[in-house]
This record gives sequence, structure tokens and C-alpha cells, in this order.
Amino acid sequence: MKITSLLFFTFLALWVGISCTNKPKEQKIFPGEIWNDSKGVPINAHGGGILYHAGKYYWFGEYKKGKTWRVGYLSNWECYRCEAGGVSCYSSENLFNWKFEGIALKPNGSDPANDLHISKVLERPKVIYNEQTKKFVMWFHVDSEDYSYARAGVAVSDNPQGPYTFHESVRPNNQMSRDMTLFKDDNGKAYHIFSSENNAVMHISLLTDDYLRPSGIEKRIFIGKSREAPAMFKHNGKYFLITSACSGWAPNAAMVATADTVLGEWKERYNPCKGPKSDSTFIAQSTYVLPVEGKTDQYIFMADRWNKTNLEDSRYIWLPLLFKNDSIAINWKDSWDLN
Ligand code: DGJ
Repeated sequence: MKITSLLFFTFLALWVGISCTNKPKEQKIFPGEIWNDSKGVPINAHGGGILYHAGKYYWFGEYKKGKTWRVGYLSNWECYRCEAGGVSCYSSENLFNWKFEGIALKPNGSDPANDLHISKVLERPKVIYNEQTKKFVMWFHVDSEDYSYARAGVAVSDNPQGPYTFHESVRPNNQMSRDMTLFKDDNGKAYHIFSSENNAVMHISLLTDDYLRPSGIEKRIFIGKSREAPAMFKHNGKYFLITSACSGWAPNAAMVATADTVLGEWKERYNPCKGPKSDSTFIAQSTYVLPVEGKTDQYIFMADRWNKTNLEDSRYIWLPLLFKNDSIAINWKDSWDLN
């Protein structure tokens, strides 16, 4: 072999070697498959949301443990449920490896009148941080087993992972509150977005500066449209709100709406899901959209693939959300790499 060829192949081998060592380790998400925590136990955080704080992500969700049953006396809809297990919390630095931090908001096992009693419904918890009070504030849907209580619960902690202390439950502005999310804007204003008026209308309620109560300023949207499972986010100064239709645990098509201000006019747009099973949100229901920290255009769409007869075994659908001008798209992927 000529000396030039020898040099060429030596450099090539070195270059391949260096590129391979620099390549970040694959962090593959498999939407709809079992996702284990750092101890090898399936992550149990349904209807969840994510808080980013001081270099870590905290995933809060419904802790659904044990038997699922159907509430026998409700015959007009399939009310499957399991004991309210409180709100679980997992932490991660890379969104891939999750450490179970425990039950951040504990259920009550002894007093059936308590809002957090295991016989109640405790769904869709979301946590935001208040820079002024230095408190972590959690809002969630609290309900009776027949979903007629229709209230929002509030809990507070000094630490992201909890423990959270129950503050109170409210009917915001004297209105029913079921499926919900929170949205904190860049200016520190926070909003509680919830299905109200027997799920027929969605409300966006500005919270007080301490995030503990509704301020009284609110906007009614999607009037008579029966939307639920709200997930709000902001991109390039525009606000986006993904919701589902209202069909119990059964999946349906998502819809994205956009607005120039949170309490402004919301335009109902289109189904952002594309491809096979897009008419059922890939057999799932929206719960949150996570802007990836430090990455301008990287957002993750989070949804729940409910298993109505075994709610604990409901799976997570995480997919990248793509932007094109002021439109978004969510494409199905059997697996994708977080890197
Ligand atoms: C749909 C909601 O989005 C879920 O959170 C849950 O409340 C089910 N309905 C109950 O049927």
C-alpha cells in the first residue's frame, strides 16, 4: 500500500472512532410501550404535566394503582375508575431516565368527605412555580366518583418534588371545573384552563398573583363545543391550545386553536395529528405540551392512551411537535430519539 493511502485510511479510522465516541447515547422513546423508571418499575403518572426547575424536569401525574371497576349505577356512560392514589412525581435531567420521587400529594384513606379521599377522582395535576412567593403550586381536577362534584383542587409546596399540602378545592368563579391544565406566561401571569358548564364550554381563568385563586378575570371559549383535555403552549409569541372532544375514556380527534393573547379570540383550526390513526389522536388524548428547555423549536406533545378496563396500564404517547410557519403537525413514530 502506498504511503498516501496508508495515511488516508489511518485518518479515516481515527475520524470514525472520534465521531462514534462523541455521538450522544440513543435515548429512544417508544410511544405506547411500557416506560420504566430508573428502578425498572413502569412510570405511573397519567394525565400528567411537566415542570422545569433549576436544571431538572419534574413529571407529575395521576397515580393509578390497583383494580379498575365500572361505577354500576351510571348507565348512560362508561364511568370506569380506580382508587385515587394521589399525585406522583418523577424527576429527570434528560427527559428519558426518570427517578420516582414518591407521591407528591398523598390521598386520604380515612375520611370519605375529604376532597383527596381514595373514593374521589383526582385527575390531570399540573404544577407551576411562583417566583414571588417561592412556592410550587399544584392544580388538579377533583371530583366525586360520578363526576358531579366538578371542582379544582389547589396544593402548595416549598420543593418541586413535594410533599404538597392541600390548600382548598374551588368551583372557579362559581363554575364547574373538570379536565384542566395550567399555563404560565413569560410575564409570570398564570392561567387555569378547564372544561366547564357541564363540559360544554372551556374557560380560561387568570389566577391571582400567588396562583392560589381565580382572579375573577376569565374568558369563555369553544362555546357549546364540548372540548376537554386542554394543553396550552406558546411559540413565537402565538398561543396554541390543543384539546380533545368529549367521549369518556374513548379516543377522538384532537383540535388545535390559536390566539394572539391568552384571553383573546381563539380561532379553532385543525387536527394537528397526521397519518394513520390521526382521527383518534393515535388512540390517545392530549394532556400537555412541553417546550424542551434551551431548544427554540423543540416541543413534545404528551398524551394518554387510556386503558379503560385497566387504568393503571394506560400508556404514554410522547411525540415531537413540528412547526411550519404558524402551523403545527404531530406525526406518528413507532420510536424516536430524544437527541
Ligand atoms: C376524559 C377525561 O379527559 C379524563 O381525564 C377522564 O376524566 C375521563 N374522561 C373519564 O371518563
